[in-house]
Amino acid sequence: MKVEFYGHVRQYRNLQRQIDANLQQVLLSGQYVMGPMLKRFEEELAHYHGMKYAVGVGNGTDAIWLTLMAFDIGPGDEVITHPNTFFATAEAVWIAGATVVFVDCDPKTKCIDPAKIEAAITSKTKAIVPVHLYGQCADMIAIRKTADKNKLRVIEDNAQGIGANGGSFKAGELSDAATISFIIQKNLGTFGDGGAVVTNNPELDARLRKLRNHGSNARNVHSFGFNSRLDDLHAGILSAKLARLDAGNDLRRHWATRYSAGLKECRNLDLPVERSGYRHVFHLYVIETKKPEQRDPFLKYLNDAGIDAKTHYSIAIHQQAGYPWGKGARVVGPLTNAERNAACCISLPMFPELTTDEVDYVIAKVVEWDRAQS
Ligand SMILES: Cc1ncc(COP(=O)(O)O)c(C=O)c1O
Repeated sequence: MKVEFYGHVRQYRNLQRQIDANLQQVLLSGQYVMGPMLKRFEEELAHYHGMKYAVGVGNGTDAIWLTLMAFDIGPGDEVITHPNTFFATAEAVWIAGATVVFVDCDPKTKCIDPAKIEAAITSKTKAIVPVHLYGQCADMIAIRKTADKNKLRVIEDNAQGIGANGGSFKAGELSDAATISFIIQKNLGTFGDGGAVVTNNPELDARLRKLRNHGSNARNVHSFGFNSRLDDLHAGILSAKLARLDAGNDLRRHWATRYSAGLKECRNLDLPVERSGYRHVFHLYVIETKKPEQRDPFLKYLNDAGIDAKTHYSIAIHQQAGYPWGKGARVVGPLTNAERNAACCISLPMFPELTTDEVDYVIAKVVEWDRAQS
């Protein structure tokens, strides 16, 4: 059996009627950039989050650095995050011209460890960028407390956790802004690139709207800006998919529960930890080998069995060759948990349109590998 890592075409088939109808509506409207479909999707996205504003931008990376710039965070400023995330989290800080400060992650959830943030704060610190890694919210209550005490901005990198919540809070609710990626593989993905920022801050909304459009919100009138807009065709695809996002996240949770039940006896693996009361939306289902030297042979074992398992992310950002490429970077404390995560992680196939047979086949192969270890 072959088990793919993504189910893009299956998802398209399931939603083809709604997606095609929206695409046709855009194509026949004659308005493809900053048109009515973008406006409609932005309203739907803000409503979904229970927030006042949503601004569509070119991708999830731009969403982060545009937000930093809109808050005047740049050269001379420091931004705290953790290094076991997709590269773009730190890259966006560097694009804004600020210094990235890395602290360790929590050993269980792999999200930023809030207890490590305080020691990293200096007079230059302007913001914290927690990542809702793999689809589970970081501990926003603790992060918000630290941010308030030190008068810092919080920008949630929510590329991976759209629809997640922490029980008493939703993603986006306890921060200045949350950024989203719509690249195809995300829980809400378009057939290409896209991104957005959601916020309740009217000044941020207004600044982002100008920054993404050559510094302009009126024809021929400009200030400094960029071209980073979410096209209406992508907005149409996303609008069709947004209506099914919660159902898709429920299915991801269903497969995660099945994986965890099937793998609970494995002695050589650690399984994902869902914090009590949280809604993890399993953008990724990431397990870890107990020993780093087991990871690569285990990955090969799965790949040879036709299972497209991957790693997220096998090289922590501060361990990338050439780091930090002349950019501002600082590490505070040991990054033991993040480094262990990089060395031991394996992501099993995870998408709503998986079948029971596929999930059970993956479970059987993982269990087979586990039993063969001494
Ligand atoms: C945690 C995280 N941050 C930022 C990004 C950047 O998003 P994009 O690829 O849309 O630029 C991604 C995904 O790609 C991501 O997973």
